[in-house]
Amino acid sequence: MTMPMLSVENLQASYGVVRALHGVSLEVDEGELVALLGVNGAGKSTTLKSIMGVLRPVKGTITFMGADITNKTPEYIVKKGISLVPEGREIFGQLTVQENLRLGAFASYDRERYKADLKEVFELFPILEQRLHQPGGLLSGGEQQMLAIARALMSHPKLLMLDEPSLGLSPAMTDQIFALIKRLREMGSTILLVEQNAERALEIVDRAYLLANGEVEFSGDVEELRRKIDIASVYFGDEDPSSCEVQS
Ligand SMILES: Nc1ncnc2c1ncn2[C@@H]1O[C@H](COP(=O)(O)OP(=O)(O)O)[C@@H](O)[C@H]1O
Ligand SMILES: [Mg+2]
Repeated sequence: MTMPMLSVENLQASYGVVRALHGVSLEVDEGELVALLGVNGAGKSTTLKSIMGVLRPVKGTITFMGADITNKTPEYIVKKGISLVPEGREIFGQLTVQENLRLGAFASYDRERYKADLKEVFELFPILEQRLHQPGGLLSGGEQQMLAIARALMSHPKLLMLDEPSLGLSPAMTDQIFALIKRLREMGSTILLVEQNAERALEIVDRAYLLANGEVEFSGDVEELRRKIDIASVYFGDEDPSSCEVQS
């Protein structure tokens, strides 16, 4: 049996006295696109922040490519090959698109490599080439999300984690972002995608975990999860299946 690329075991995390995660376990294999679903406050971002080393877990083990990365610094974890596009994108609004991309690249880059990376990014995001010298803050929400993803890709992460990339975007822009995530996966990227919009996420992912109140309520392949969500929506008469709790 091969080892998963990322393995999170019994992760517990707190904000002060408030316990946000009560023992979350999940795995991501190399080349997989896995969704972490759940309503607002379920613990999705806390899970990503813990993996990234931004938040120190109370308990649990995080293993990445065979190495224990629990309690390592974010700098160490970035170097190991994990990149996080945080909720709310967090691009530098005052800096140009090019400067934002430059910040995502390796600190010790050689010029040729940087140029090649930029070219790759422009193939995926032609709009960024057109906007190269504009301040990031002047881009639309969807373009800023593209810039945030592009910036993360500049360091060639082995695992890309996206925290609610569709948040606040128009349906058309959401389509574009999801098409892009699908394409990245087809190109061989390994992706952990956090989404509130279960319906949309299940259209593109291989597998999913559903978090509720800081615990994994359900995990499985797309068909299994769809069935669970359908049953739950009938049971509760909920119009929006993506926003309802799943019966386990
Ligand atoms: N900085 C914080 N300080 C205190 N509590 C927080 C903080 N961030 C998140 N929480 C709490 O932790 C729980 C999980 O939050 P979060 O991981 O952000 O959920 P999600 O990303 O699924 O919406 C929630 O109850 C939330 O209120
Ligand atoms: Mg969140």
